[in-house]
Amino acid sequence: MPAPQSVSSPNQSLLPITAEINAAGHLVIGGCDLVALAKDFGTPLYILDEATIRQGCQQYRQAFAAFYPGPAQVLYATKAWNCLALCALMLQEGLGLDVASGGELYTALQAGAKGRDLYVHGNAKTPAELAMCLDAGATVVVDSEYELHLLAEQAAQRGVKARILLRVNPGIDVHTHAYIRTGQTDSKFGIGLTQIGAVLEKVTRLPSLDWVGFHAHIGSQIFDLEGHRDLAAVMAKLWQKALSLGLHPQELNVGGGLGIRYREEDDPPSIAAWVEAVSTSVQNHFQGLPLPKLLCEPGRSLVATAGVTLYTLGGSKQVPPSPELPQGRTYVTIDGGMSDNPRPITYQARYTAYVANRMGDPLDTVVTVAGKHCESGDILIKDILLPAITPGDLLVVTGTGAYTYSMASNYNRYPRAAAVVVGNAQARLIVQRESYADLVRLDVLPEHWQGA
Ligand code: LLP
Repeated sequence: MPAPQSVSSPNQSLLPITAEINAAGHLVIGGCDLVALAKDFGTPLYILDEATIRQGCQQYRQAFAAFYPGPAQVLYATKAWNCLALCALMLQEGLGLDVASGGELYTALQAGAKGRDLYVHGNAKTPAELAMCLDAGATVVVDSEYELHLLAEQAAQRGVKARILLRVNPGIDVHTHAYIRTGQTDSKFGIGLTQIGAVLEKVTRLPSLDWVGFHAHIGSQIFDLEGHRDLAAVMAKLWQKALSLGLHPQELNVGGGLGIRYREEDDPPSIAAWVEAVSTSVQNHFQGLPLPKLLCEPGRSLVATAGVTLYTLGGSKQVPPSPELPQGRTYVTIDGGMSDNPRPITYQARYTAYVANRMGDPLDTVVTVAGKHCESGDILIKDILLPAITPGDLLVVTGTGAYTYSMASNYNRYPRAAAVVVGNAQARLIVQRESYADLVRLDVLPEHWQGA
């Protein structure tokens, strides 16, 4: 068996691991022909490959077993894609769940999660959300001193002990988009290094809190392992500080952040390489200290590559060449856009796409894929090389299993897309397509305007 770090992992591929091309030149995922899926479920359609998700989970687990001699636990960051099916799948794979809101917590509980599986994040948890955490017996990742007192009071009133981690802002700057960077000093998340000592002292005086350790998350879509190596050094110092106060830290949660290959030129480390870097740096910096239980909470690297979004192509528009645009531009339209994938307009995220029913055709046309929303910035992919296409062809955008469905909206009152999970040549619906009726389901028409 090859050493785990030499095995490539799903986050390093553009396509799900089961992707193949059939004799008709169609893309097949999980044994399902995408042309058939479009017919059966309509488009836009999110498609998640079960085997890719399971392989990512297994690689995280196996890498911790190989590289970390202490106890370890992988939590899935459900914000990447939270629905009943995915929570259940992750629990089945032996992962815990990181949730960041009452809604994510509710979904996880409905999917069968128990208190010990759950770690609850958020920089502004409400008293009602904290009450849900206590009811569920979840571990609360406390983000501020304000929250610490709020939770201590609620727990004391109920006569229970709240299990908590403290979220630290480690002051580590990583190279990723500014909106998805969280560990630098000027961030809304976590307790700063200059304040954490005072907060720890408060913890010692709050008997309704069962403090078990620290959490930090330095950002997302990170390719560089340096940030997590630096994080281990910062955390080891805090560990010693806590020990010197007579506290008993047990758990160290280093967050998520491993990036994925969205485009050919992206080169993220493998899951095993990430786990190895985290594990060895924790061991190096914790020499002489008991090894903490090491937790991490990947989101994107577990689900992004497993997901693709299938669209039906519509008409196109030519912008003729001009002095400002010497090549001109061809816009092609799809039946979705920023409502099912807000990442391009939000983070200038760049994606790879193929034409699912023409996988064998030569790539000879440069087009810009325009979403259908009333917003000039709703461009899904700028200048991509595709085969010659006609309306009705199927565009498949890869790497869309994370932060697409979970960030989807009804902008322009488009019903949200359906999602299926594929495996063993079967497709199962995991999120139904919204209908127009769903769009007005929560609307209330004041009585005196009815029939107007
Ligand atoms: N833990 C915490 C506390 C987090 O805030 C996050 C992500 C994760 C874990 C998971 O990080 P991952 O392994 O997925 O990188 N919407 C943005 C990403 C925001 C990430 C927010 N926090 C995007 O589409 O790129």
